[in-house]
Amino acid sequence: MRRLRLVVLASGRGSNLESLIAASREGRMEADVVRVIANRPDAQALAVARSHGVEALCVPSAGASRDEHDARVAEAIDPARPDLVVLAGYMRILGAAFLARYQGRLVNIHPSLLPAFPGLEAPRQAHARGVRIAGCTTHFVTSEVDAGPIILQAALVVDPAWSPEELAARILALEHEIYPRTIDLLAKRSARLEGGRVVLEGAPGALLREARP
Ligand code: GRF
Repeated sequence: MRRLRLVVLASGRGSNLESLIAASREGRMEADVVRVIANRPDAQALAVARSHGVEALCVPSAGASRDEHDARVAEAIDPARPDLVVLAGYMRILGAAFLARYQGRLVNIHPSLLPAFPGLEAPRQAHARGVRIAGCTTHFVTSEVDAGPIILQAALVVDPAWSPEELAARILALEHEIYPRTIDLLAKRSARLEGGRVVLEGAPGALLREARP
């Protein structure tokens, strides 16, 4: 088995990036983050990457058309020779050419149990609807936003007393578990894309957390 090379795209805080770097270095994921690209110069993810000695570039999206920006990002990705391009809080819709170029090699994490609550502020949407079970999903990226083949899901039982922020924080903690696990399964070929669905071999596709007292 070969360790996968990952390029991570991020726009903000970078907590998922941090969890991927930690899992890689602690031997929990057969993959290495080789480059981080942010579309905003103020993205905290850039500082997270640099603080761990990971190369970090900004390809600013402000003022560029989608296709222009996508092309510049691809030019920044390709020299790093990634096996996977990993979206971690990348707040941009990707154009058709970009999606075709990285088809089957582009993964995302979303803070809901898809197909419920695609789009922005998923934990807030879930809280507003009073869901009893919430969670997060890793998936391959396709042209429909948050609708690609699902890889792993993690769910938790919701305490109705939680604020929206508390729910979001608990979902985020689950994200930090399943994103490295997802990439490790892909590296080990225990998760594979076949005929538009993800086939798992010898690995559970879900993680469930009971309510904590
Ligand atoms: C996460 O909730 C992720 O699911 C969503 O954007 C957020 C990014 O958070 N796509 P962070 O930048 O990784 O802390």
